[in-house]
Amino acid sequence: MVSGQRGTVGIGEVARAAGVSNGTVSNVLNHPSRVNADTATRVHEAIQRLGYVRNGIASQLRAGTRTTVGSIVLDIRNPFFTDVTRGIEDHLATADFTLMTASSDGDVVREQRFLRLFEEQGVGGVVVVPAGEDVQRLVELAGRGTPVVVLDVSLPGSSLSSVSVDDVEGGRLALEHLLAQGYERIDVVTGAAEVRQTRDRLRGARLACESHGLDPDRVLSVRTARTLDSAGAEEAIGRLVDESGTCPHAVFAMNDLMAIGVQRALRRRELYEPGRTAVVGYDDIDLAAELLVPLTSIRQPTHALGARAAEILLAPASQEAEQVVFQPELVVRESSLGTARR
Ligand code: RIB
Repeated sequence: MVSGQRGTVGIGEVARAAGVSNGTVSNVLNHPSRVNADTATRVHEAIQRLGYVRNGIASQLRAGTRTTVGSIVLDIRNPFFTDVTRGIEDHLATADFTLMTASSDGDVVREQRFLRLFEEQGVGGVVVVPAGEDVQRLVELAGRGTPVVVLDVSLPGSSLSSVSVDDVEGGRLALEHLLAQGYERIDVVTGAAEVRQTRDRLRGARLACESHGLDPDRVLSVRTARTLDSAGAEEAIGRLVDESGTCPHAVFAMNDLMAIGVQRALRRRELYEPGRTAVVGYDDIDLAAELLVPLTSIRQPTHALGARAAEILLAPASQEAEQVVFQPELVVRESSLGTARR
């Protein structure tokens, strides 16, 4: 699916095709706010039709092939994304492709900057964990001739292929486990609402409550962390404990780094001991089993996610987009086994 011969179309041809000056084409690409919407649309249509790509390192591209792929994840520091990226890299290496990686931090503007750099550098394709819900920019990138595979969120009906895990099921598994332990009041530490992965997990958690005839709003107390990492979760749970003066009975953290932050917040307040507060994370990163109190988590097949995305990207272009969805798995460890207190 990676691109072959790359555009030798110049900015002049685009300008002529759109009926504008070279300067206007340059403004559309570099200073879009200076150009009215109709003109910009005409220019983008000409770019797409002619397969124009700005000449970043076009002269360095080997004729007919492009052997580098770009990937953008939310945060490469998160071991989940590190291992997914390694899966991409390992599969690419089987076809002598290399990988350039970037982190968007969930920021659409930052993601778009990396997408533009990748396109200018003539990558053979891009694997992206999208920032935000809207993927139209990725559809347009693919339309200009850079293959795109979306990772970590599914896109039913999209023209783009995606590889993800059923996060609704993952959230349901986590809550089923805590409810089975007898917990009926559970704090959930999650991310901003626009993060599809954590939003789906919360939806699964609510479904688990409803399947037990419980009111999710009475069982779940949702705390939104500023960041999807240990610092964000430590701050969110720490605020809860300091304000309420009570220790949570059970916490479902939307990823393992956040679960580590929860344990740290309680430990720093000398409130954390196995059996007192049940903690469940998500991802099952390698560290989860090695913690002072080994962490119960929802396992994602991280390396396989990345490898499958790279496999789709390198496959011959097919008309039909593929939506590959892996299943999560509950891995029970000491952090969630205790005497539930209602
Ligand atoms: O970035 C938030 C989370 O989404 C990661 O920890 C991983 O679970 C991904 O699916």
